[in-house]
Amino acid sequence: MRIVSVLGVALAGLSVIGAVTAYGQINARSQYGGTTAAVVDDKGNLRVPSDYRTAYQVLGSWAVAKDDGPGSKELHVVYASPGTIAAYHKDGHFPDGTVLVKEVFKTTTNDMTTGTVSSAGTLAGWFVMVKDNAGRFPGNKLWGDGWGWSWFDAANPQKTTSTDYTTDCQSCHVPARQSDWIYTRGYPVLNR
Ligand code: HEC
Repeated sequence: MRIVSVLGVALAGLSVIGAVTAYGQINARSQYGGTTAAVVDDKGNLRVPSDYRTAYQVLGSWAVAKDDGPGSKELHVVYASPGTIAAYHKDGHFPDGTVLVKEVFKTTTNDMTTGTVSSAGTLAGWFVMVKDNAGRFPGNKLWGDGWGWSWFDAANPQKTTSTDYTTDCQSCHVPARQSDWIYTRGYPVLNR
């Protein structure tokens, strides 16, 4: 599917060839043989890859405690594009083109046979990051410090509501700066 869309853009005009190249490259890792869905367009706009639940690898999950009472108010489930785990084990880095998707769920909390249990309820939306070692989209406020960054409300996985990664995202990721802005310690599969 992606190959078709890249060709489509290429045929649209030679003036965008540079951008098409960047688009092709940045999607090379995530498409992993041309079988996974598009994440970045030629202008650097991100979208939630439509097939991440079946084509991606699960890195791990986070439970955010309720402010009062037992249980969690949110569950976060983090996925990475195919090949990420093996590549990370080689040198401790996320390779160029790596896509990370974090689902944010509201929860329901119930007494179950295991205890008081919170489980995934309504999906609030997704955080998406795309690794970029080449600085492909200079001047785009959603790209910088080696990543593309965006949030998507559940209602619109195609269009971000983020406007500036430095204020919308990065300030909160400062504690993870030493690990390329990613909270890697939460993912046993990377740290085995
Ligand atoms: C309120 C602080 C905060 C903001 C704002 C924030 N993040 Fe995060 N993010 C975190 C924390 C803390 C984690 C890991 C723990 C968790 O999910 O609760 C995380 C995890 C992630 C993950 C999973 C990979 C990892 O780093 O562990 C992605 C992807 C992500 N954030 C992307 C973004 C993007 C993109 C934005 C901006 C659109 C953003 N975040 C804004 C605090 C934040």
